[in-house]
Amino acid sequence: MSTLSLSQYLCREQQLHDLDPVLSRLIVSVSEACKTISFKVRNGALAGVLGMAGSENVQGEDQKKLDIISNDIFVEAVALSGSVCGMVSEEIPEVIPVPEDLPIGPYLICFDPLDGSSNIDINVSIGSIFSVLPAVRPKREPVAEDFLMPGTKQVAAGYCMYGPQTQLVLTFGRGVVMFTLDPTTGTFMLTAEDVRVDRSAKEFAINCSNMRHWEDPVKRYVAELLEGKTGVRGKDFNMRWVAAMVAEVHRILQRGGIFMYPRDHRDLTKPGKLRLMYEANPMSMLMENAGAAATNGHQRILDIVPEKIHQRVAVFLGAADEVERVTSYHAE
Ligand code: F6P
Ligand code: MN
Repeated sequence: MSTLSLSQYLCREQQLHDLDPVLSRLIVSVSEACKTISFKVRNGALAGVLGMAGSENVQGEDQKKLDIISNDIFVEAVALSGSVCGMVSEEIPEVIPVPEDLPIGPYLICFDPLDGSSNIDINVSIGSIFSVLPAVRPKREPVAEDFLMPGTKQVAAGYCMYGPQTQLVLTFGRGVVMFTLDPTTGTFMLTAEDVRVDRSAKEFAINCSNMRHWEDPVKRYVAELLEGKTGVRGKDFNMRWVAAMVAEVHRILQRGGIFMYPRDHRDLTKPGKLRLMYEANPMSMLMENAGAAATNGHQRILDIVPEKIHQRVAVFLGAADEVERVTSYHAE
């Protein structure tokens, strides 16, 4: 099969849809970072990248060696692209500036360099997630406030999944495309275009070990799914939980379903576990571009105006009918 490489695809987007060449350069740089991370992941213990780093991130979560290695790879590749004036990473509390000796560009980027960290050491799928925003006033040292715009402003979003294959999934707001890394040439090749998610679903993903802490609308929704054919839904549902958001979103893009990480009663000051700016927003942009939906149970995720760069949010995303249903239960 002859198909386009990522670079050829980006050239085509520049010709057909006026894609900004600077944004295109940023995506190439992100893809280079993902490729490097992919090689580290593949080598695992052979590259000495497994295990704990002995430090904590801003969320108070223990960092793995690969969290830190992936962060450094992302920061360096993006800084060298000359296309951003600042970065936000899950692993770093403050905004990351571009080093003095490198040029800046008109974009801001937020990323989760290594999503699904608990899967690293057991050789299960993990990924990287990124969200690109326009810098309203590009400047050398942007501050956190410069990043605080709703997800509707994203000009590009995507993720790379390190699974049996390495796949880069991307949107510029004109549908969703997928690339597969050819391990023999080291090139990302276009393998799916115009990815669509069915409105209805037969599969759901939620960490049921938290069930006793959920709010009533979530308890009701999941109880109805579990009743299957004999309950109000009149059909059986299957369940999956990979514990890496990238892998759950990837499955939904390919085969449908709904993914949920609700807020719960354990700590009402924490609106969920997932982070808005580098997990929920980019994944919501991908979902909407594939005909699916994403809310926090009350409103569209992409409409939320962030107050903090590391803000958390409840997430319900995937098949539009299911997301609408669980969201409507929150309104009752
Ligand atoms: O980034 C947070 C994350 O690792 C997600 O990728 C994943 O969906 C979730 O946490 C898994 O959470 P838990 O460990 O509660 O199952
Ligand atoms: Mn993550």
